Amino acid sequence: MSTPRRFPDDFVWGSATAAYQIEGAADEDGRGPSIWDTFSRTPGKVLDGDTGDVADDHYHRWAEDVQHIRDLGLDAYRLSISWPRVQPGGSGDFNEAGIAFYSRLVDALTEAGVKPVVTLYHWDLPQELEDEGGWTNRATAYAFAEYARRMAQELGTRVDTWTTLNEPWCSAYLGYGSGVHAPGRTEGEGALRAVHHLNLAHGLAVQAVRDVLGDEARTSVTLNLHVVRPDTDSAEDADAVRKIDALANRAFLGPLLDGAYPADLLEDTAHVTDWSFVEDGDLAITRQPLDVLGVNYYSTARVRHFAGEGAPEQNDGHAESAASPWVGVTDVEFLQQPGPYTAMGWNIEPQGMTDLLLSLHATYPDQPLMVTENGAAFEDVVSPDGAVHDPQRVAYLHDHVEAVGRAIDAGADVGGYFAWSLLDNFEWSYGYSKRFGIIRVDYDTLVRTWKDSAHWYRRLATTRTLPGVDEVSPA
Ligand code: FCB
Repeated sequence: MSTPRRFPDDFVWGSATAAYQIEGAADEDGRGPSIWDTFSRTPGKVLDGDTGDVADDHYHRWAEDVQHIRDLGLDAYRLSISWPRVQPGGSGDFNEAGIAFYSRLVDALTEAGVKPVVTLYHWDLPQELEDEGGWTNRATAYAFAEYARRMAQELGTRVDTWTTLNEPWCSAYLGYGSGVHAPGRTEGEGALRAVHHLNLAHGLAVQAVRDVLGDEARTSVTLNLHVVRPDTDSAEDADAVRKIDALANRAFLGPLLDGAYPADLLEDTAHVTDWSFVEDGDLAITRQPLDVLGVNYYSTARVRHFAGEGAPEQNDGHAESAASPWVGVTDVEFLQQPGPYTAMGWNIEPQGMTDLLLSLHATYPDQPLMVTENGAAFEDVVSPDGAVHDPQRVAYLHDHVEAVGRAIDAGADVGGYFAWSLLDNFEWSYGYSKRFGIIRVDYDTLVRTWKDSAHWYRRLATTRTLPGVDEVSPA
């Protein structure tokens, strides 16, 4: 038998959530409305009309949830702050009750020996800012930096890592391109403006956090980089990959890590915009040294050049819409991929994780990386005794953690892994129909129950050695 894979002692094992997906208490203690409140309350936008009004009621059950995190033996917990909870209108007055909630949470985590990794923006823009144009409005980036500054002042060095944005790709292209996410706008140019203003917001926020906390601040951003593969080795398919890679990956990596937008991206989208919203000096702001680059990985994409009539196939893993999130690109088709699949219909391909980490390492050898999300939704079944045996999720986590290990073996500088998600939660436009948690939430009673995957993950986090897929018994 081969020796089980062991990870370094300082490798960080964590789990992640996001405010709107778990907190509930949407109208309590002075919280203002966010674009996700508006969107989810608009009929037809979210499956079954689900909203985050109650979600997992984490706002009231946070102490129990911290206890679960402690019992899991995690080193870190990745949470997000709801901007409209701490600053209801997105500018102007802050809400002390909202700030106090996160202050208590961060303290409780620290007391439990768990490092708080805090994301400042996981998609819940204050509605008042959207009313002024949202991410298509440059002023939103400056408002974000003020909010970031205040959070740095309030939470300070109690936060282990400050992450500015979660997956700006989704905020820009799903929010303003295909419209399947809040605010649900379908404007090609608007999506590209949003891309830039998010990049600018990131840079300004890193500057603000560093301004307050100096070198003690660990800063990061989390991107959902796409692993894009060509259907064939033709030059056309290679060009299809190039175009998608530009929109999906280099539109963020370029300004954030290289201080420039890729020339081919500007050319590909020249018929949509002249990018004149990128002002002099912006790219010196967007590019900030990052202590860690967060990487979210779930599955891969396969593309080919499309020369046919009508609309190309769009099996890109994102919810269907008449408008494409791939702004300006009409000649690329996303192909259905071979299975197996998760309940999201996403193909399961752990090798994509290894490839992604290694390609980032090859391009940015000095940039430390962290897997800030990885996990899977499956149709969970509750056994008569109340247990949730989720062998598919255990296998998914096992194979992807192993894939991270292979990337480390090959030289990638990966410092941690966060399972998505700690709890079943509001999965955006899919509402509560998709369960990603390692802990089950009964949405009638809000009772939390460890799935087998939670027991398995506890074993991994506490032994730092990859358990076999059958090692799911409670401790
Ligand atoms: C990511 C999001 C996260 C969750 C997972 C499944 O795109 O960051 O909130 O919805 O997907």
